[in-house]
Amino acid sequence: MKHFTRISDLGPAGVKEILATAAAWKKDKPGAIFMDRILGMVFFNPSLRTRASFEAAMLRHGGHAIVLEVGAGTWKLEDRDGAIMNEDRQEHVREGVPVLGRYVNALAVRTFSHGDGDDVDERDPVINAFRRFSTVPVLSMESAREHPHQGLADLLTVQEAHGSTKVPVTLTWAPHVKSLPKAVPNSFLLTAAACGAEIRVAHPKGYELAPEVRAEAEAYAAATGGKIVYTNDQDAALDGSAAVYAKAWGPSTSSGQEAAPMADLSAWMPTAAHMQKAAKEAIFIHCLPVRRNLEVHDSVLDGPWSRVVDEAENRFHVQRATINALLTQR
Ligand code: CP
Repeated sequence: MKHFTRISDLGPAGVKEILATAAAWKKDKPGAIFMDRILGMVFFNPSLRTRASFEAAMLRHGGHAIVLEVGAGTWKLEDRDGAIMNEDRQEHVREGVPVLGRYVNALAVRTFSHGDGDDVDERDPVINAFRRFSTVPVLSMESAREHPHQGLADLLTVQEAHGSTKVPVTLTWAPHVKSLPKAVPNSFLLTAAACGAEIRVAHPKGYELAPEVRAEAEAYAAATGGKIVYTNDQDAALDGSAAVYAKAWGPSTSSGQEAAPMADLSAWMPTAAHMQKAAKEAIFIHCLPVRRNLEVHDSVLDGPWSRVVDEAENRFHVQRATINALLTQR
């Protein structure tokens, strides 16, 4: 694995290996595995968990992290081939990315979708430009298509709760005031499929995930004995689920289905009543940040099901494992 910006860089065997290392190191922490190593962290968008957990992973194991916020203390970066740079982006990734590679051992990048549609998100232009021009390994801290470290942390949380990832899990759409990117639901679907889970994806009509992501998840499920069902019936999806993941995402731009306005879909917000349809031992997970009483009700986040803080801690554990895998590769 040269870079880790998508679940396909690991595949099901690699996902299993990272989860095993993360779980082992959570019990028996490793020593100074990142001694004299520097992680460059490039943020095009804000973060709480991602920034703190990557920095903590480096600092707690003898390494260091340099945080760069693009356009706020650095030049704005242009990623388009052949661009005439007469607007506000002063530096091209063709120079900026290899220059950073002269200073650091790996580069982690956060670059959200610009909302230009599922096709553009599928091409994931900014993080793929970093892959093209970087001389050191690139890790994703969330891009337009995927948030793979989040997916790994999600599945580690499921594994800890149930002793297995091969359990029924529900990914349910939830309401929001904004049309959010699909990277988080994509990554939960892909990682759960790579782990052989029985996945129920529930969403209103018009909020389908992109066909390329669904096809990739189907291929993983076929290889791991997993199963994926898509439904517009949230109650049916929740029935007997061992884990419920609620997440807002924007309408599909590729399915051709008409999407109802989010304001008309408030009944999709998970409440305690929804969780009572899941299995008795069900857990509730969410990547955070979460908008309380809009996306998820207080009764769920403050209820017995919630593992959202454990899940955020697990970001640290899976990231130690992926950074180490990239820095120690031959
Ligand atoms: N879950 C997650 O990536 O959180 P941040 O956006 O705060 O990093």
